[in-house]
Amino acid sequence: MKKLLALIAAALMMAPTVCHADEGMWIPMLLGRNQAAMQKAGMHITAQDIYDINKASLKDAVLLFGGGCTGEFVSDEGLVLTNHHCGYSYIVKHSTVEHDYLTNGFWAMSREQEIPCPGLTVTRLVYMQDVTKEVLDGVNADMSESERETVIENNIKAVGDKAVEGTHYRYVIKPFYYGNQYFMYVNEVFTDVRLVGAPPSNIGKFGGDTDNWMWPRHTGDFSMFRVYVDGDNKPAAYSKDNVPYRPLKHLEISLKGVDEGDFTFVFGYPGTTRRYVTHDYVDMAANQENPVRIALRTIRLDHYNAAMRQSAGQRLKYASRVASIANGWKKWQGESLGIDRLHGVEQKIAQEEQFRKWAVDKPQYRDVLDQMEDNYAKLREVEMEWVYFSEAVLASDFMQRAYRLYRMMNLTGEQLEAAAAKMLDDSHKYFEDFEQHSPIDKSIFTECFIYMWSHGYAPYLNKKCSTAGDVEKLLNRYYDNNIINNPKKLEKLLTLPADKLHKKLIDELPAKDLDLIGVAYSYTYSSAKRQQYNDADDNIQRLMRTYIKGMMEQYPDSNFFPDANLTLRVAYGHVEGFKPKDATYYTAYSTIDGIMEKENPDVYDYRVEPRLKELWQKKDYGHYANKKGELPVAFIATNHTTGGNSGSPVLNADGQLVGINFDRCWEGTMSDLLFDPAYCRNISLDIRYCLFIIDKYAGARHLVDEMTLVEQ
Ligand code: ARG
Ligand code: ASP
Repeated sequence: MKKLLALIAAALMMAPTVCHADEGMWIPMLLGRNQAAMQKAGMHITAQDIYDINKASLKDAVLLFGGGCTGEFVSDEGLVLTNHHCGYSYIVKHSTVEHDYLTNGFWAMSREQEIPCPGLTVTRLVYMQDVTKEVLDGVNADMSESERETVIENNIKAVGDKAVEGTHYRYVIKPFYYGNQYFMYVNEVFTDVRLVGAPPSNIGKFGGDTDNWMWPRHTGDFSMFRVYVDGDNKPAAYSKDNVPYRPLKHLEISLKGVDEGDFTFVFGYPGTTRRYVTHDYVDMAANQENPVRIALRTIRLDHYNAAMRQSAGQRLKYASRVASIANGWKKWQGESLGIDRLHGVEQKIAQEEQFRKWAVDKPQYRDVLDQMEDNYAKLREVEMEWVYFSEAVLASDFMQRAYRLYRMMNLTGEQLEAAAAKMLDDSHKYFEDFEQHSPIDKSIFTECFIYMWSHGYAPYLNKKCSTAGDVEKLLNRYYDNNIINNPKKLEKLLTLPADKLHKKLIDELPAKDLDLIGVAYSYTYSSAKRQQYNDADDNIQRLMRTYIKGMMEQYPDSNFFPDANLTLRVAYGHVEGFKPKDATYYTAYSTIDGIMEKENPDVYDYRVEPRLKELWQKKDYGHYANKKGELPVAFIATNHTTGGNSGSPVLNADGQLVGINFDRCWEGTMSDLLFDPAYCRNISLDIRYCLFIIDKYAGARHLVDEMTLVEQ
């Protein structure tokens, strides 16, 4: 109790803004404001070296990779580094039984061998600009939210279209601080991106889901791509005549490495944070949503993991879906524990009290928190239904397919025919594996539904059932007799002419095969609920805009960082170990010795490539070892990062590449909501391990030769 009071007292004294030197994801264009602090923290370069629109700067080497990761140029021939888990789907796409690049790795030994990846883009920021005035032109306080949105949308289009007129650039304009400010990003989007290299899975994904979100870590999480352009060095669709892109800037790579205490910064595309939300949101996430999501995903993971232990084939089959289910499952556990440990809800309440006191004589701010609470009360009444719909109703492939068919109700004519043909096509895969997969899928379906029903979120089942046994029987019957699970009947249905199919979807199926999905859908999405949710959510967004504006006035000397929104940001901090629990201290870097310690041929995640072991036995590390003769693999630092920052360059005080960001430590995963410098650490691959794998392990020296290495 004493500790709690002390914590709350401390929170009361803190501004609800940047309380910690290392917290924050800063806007490159405004980095001048952070320059003094960054230099004090150890940086040798200037804000302009990082972002400059008049000459090439580090930002020209940093890329949005695909739609949700970061990558960076490391050669003057368009070579890009990112994470293995960011390139994963492209590596998988090109893998076959004969050429299993995922398992064995892939290295293009010549440019001809580089593999095109249709659909993959990388995006370079050309320049950014504050367009708040233009975007808010014509907006006034008396407007409704939707009127406001219409004006803003029109302004955005006008400003953006004008900015890129006559160029090959594209623009994005995004709100900051809940719409108090707007920035425009003018981008160059490259569309011919080719796979150049990826280590085998037991290097690139070493530790798998067992080690995911954890430190100490030994994952060689990188892959390589190359950007190709037309003869004018401009983006172009794939063509065999395209040539490697010559970037304005590529990163120098330092072989010196980092030591505990060294300054580092991460330059990339963090996706989403919610730093300024009120206690209701924190409570809702930590105590209401996360526990349910975790419980429901545990059901799924238990079944898939059991199957994966049965055979190599099953392991391959479920690996990718387990990776994505387990990623959130594990993160939410860390997040809830972190919020609890920090007394996050109480901290927020204490900060809100301070705001209330400050606002008492300010009519524009006085009621904002009361209104926020009222709206959260309304939102929270209906919020869980969405969680249950995505995590329980749609947990099984069966229900996902039922949902797909159900939604076809809204289609007619050619569109319906195309959707039906696509579903029929995908059905072949579903039925091919039905015998093995359906017992698992059926258990997931029934268990998730029973969980949901027993928590009061499927009241529609009460009409027919009074015990869990009744529910189970009903679900089993539904699964066994459903057209979704009957290849012949389904084929007959999906090949009907559009008008007949439409009629069946409207008149017949909702009462039979699509009964449960239809009822579950309307229960969750009844228009009254949807209305209640949307109204509350709109109000909360509007109130947040006022609240954050108020906080900025309340603490005029604080530098507020805007929440992450998948725009380019800089986070800075120091290489630093931490104490995750009593009597335990984690040092700041791991080495190849740890890989050998973890090695276990019986555990898939801990298998070690014989060739890697051989190099380790001979200590054949080339010039990639540290001063102590060890080969570093990964390191942790206090940089504030989040999802999307994967693949981001981690740079030293001189702006040279020392690592590739790929994860955070589990104990600090609440950092999207609350940052604690004692626990929040980003995890980076040491660039020396990456080079060692390319050069020494894979023998792809020509790729290292393209890069600019700095020995000292
Ligand atoms: N936790 C990291 C991130 O959120 C890596 C995820 C991929 N790796 C995995 N084992 N599932 O993206
Ligand atoms: N692993 C995350 C990513 O893929 C990074 C993080 O959440 O820290 O972006």
